[in-house]
Amino acid sequence: MTMTLPADADGLLAMAGKSMFEAFARDAMGAMVVDREHRVVWISEGYLRFLPGLGFTEPEQFVGRRVEEVVPNTLMAHVIDTGQPILVDLLTNQAGTFLVSRLPLRDDAGRVIGAVGFVLLDHPETTMQPLLAKFSRLQTELDTARQQLAAQRRPRHTIASFIGASPAALEVKRQARRVAQIGSTVLLLGETGTGKELLAQGIHAAGARAARRFVGVNIAAVPDTLLEAEFFGVAPGAYTGADRRGREGKFKHADGGTLFLDEIGDMPLALQSKLLRALQEQEIEPLGSNRVERVDVRIIAATSRDLAAMVAAGTFRADLYYRLNVLPIRLPALRERLADLEALVESLAEDIARRSGLPVRSVSPEALALLARRAWPGNIRELRNTLEQAALMTDDLVLEPRHFDGWAGADASASTPAAQPTPEPATAPPPASAGALPVPDVPPGTLRPLSEQVAEVERTAIASALRASGGNRALAARRLRMSRAALYERLARWPELPDGT
Ligand SMILES: Nc1ncnc2c1ncn2[C@@H]1O[C@H](COP(=O)(O)OP(=O)(O)O)[C@@H](O)[C@H]1O
Ligand SMILES: [Mg+2]
Repeated sequence: MTMTLPADADGLLAMAGKSMFEAFARDAMGAMVVDREHRVVWISEGYLRFLPGLGFTEPEQFVGRRVEEVVPNTLMAHVIDTGQPILVDLLTNQAGTFLVSRLPLRDDAGRVIGAVGFVLLDHPETTMQPLLAKFSRLQTELDTARQQLAAQRRPRHTIASFIGASPAALEVKRQARRVAQIGSTVLLLGETGTGKELLAQGIHAAGARAARRFVGVNIAAVPDTLLEAEFFGVAPGAYTGADRRGREGKFKHADGGTLFLDEIGDMPLALQSKLLRALQEQEIEPLGSNRVERVDVRIIAATSRDLAAMVAAGTFRADLYYRLNVLPIRLPALRERLADLEALVESLAEDIARRSGLPVRSVSPEALALLARRAWPGNIRELRNTLEQAALMTDDLVLEPRHFDGWAGADASASTPAAQPTPEPATAPPPASAGALPVPDVPPGTLRPLSEQVAEVERTAIASALRASGGNRALAARRLRMSRAALYERLARWPELPDGT
């Protein structure tokens, strides 16, 4: 076998081009060449099969015409005009759907002089079925994942989630809607459990940044020494070990969105100046870095403390206070808007049922009247806990006064029906004197170790809960507000315990 080597690389290239074109023209289902004026100058043998579908009986009716006139939806003219190839495309017209490829043709000077088009496959919807099916499945999965991601980022609450139609609640919502539009820093003031975090999410959701992140930091929950890294991040290589790769801070994480600074009154003084700078300059400096990074963050701060008093006492920087206090919203305590109690109870009861899987409970008018007489120092969070406890204690669908009796949370005024809500919440209950507790007299000789007595109380409580739950351990654990694991652990310890059935 002899082999003739081409004289030079250009010759090899020219040969490759020629033989490839011939191979494509022969083996593709069809091929056509179009000149610079979009006129069809040549079609392959194979292309003849498509002519009837396009409405032609003879090649003479087709060749010589402008391609856009004889092949509906073709992009050959586009390839000629832009000089950009379309390597793979689906073309659909009255003749069917085709997998096609279109390449510009250039002269030696690189000018586009026409284009060549190949029909690679006809009926790609059947021959390429597995591929197309996989593509559309992946597309669907991608859409679902995108939606889930968006749903996770979206705050769970809108301003309407702030339940209440009392004048005080309506005023809070009116102010919230207004500041949401303005988009500047907001300060939410109110006792614990009044709905500051819920409202912050609502303000974010009603503003221009709704599609971006809502990032919360509870300053009281982060140790002082870690706060700076939590806020501003750590530069790569700042420490050896676990943090070598660096870590993004909350400011960066919230970039473009909203940063919720909960319990801002608990901010250590040393960090207050750094926070103020970040707010003023919209710039942060990660720990261990000497570069500043720009961030675009909307701040919503909240506190249950009296910031003005803290400023006076020198524990909160005045300049930071003025910076935050541009648009303050004061959230009323629950005892200041008892008119909303019923609506709140209804909404919370539904939410508790949805989360626990237990049936929705309603609250009788008498029980509602009882609840209205409490002081609610923990506000709506406390109300929620109270309802949750009561729902766990009973299977009754209507909660009566007796379901709210006799456990922590009931304050003194609850036992005197005529009492008005106390203006001062019972934040500091009177110290329990021994006299308030029933103390049985026990002869010193019969005193047993505390652990033994506690175990006995536990044993009795678990036995009664099991009996009351018909032996259903999961239900018994729920009623005792203990984990199932803890219940099983106790049962293993006391094999003599009846199982309640
Ligand atoms: N106006 C309200 N409507 C419905 N639920 C509320 C309202 N205010 C507070 N809550 C509920 O009470 C609990 C405490 O609210 P949260 O926003 O965390 O209070 P704060 O941040 O002021 O301590 C949450 O479960 C919240 O959903
Ligand atoms: Mg809170």
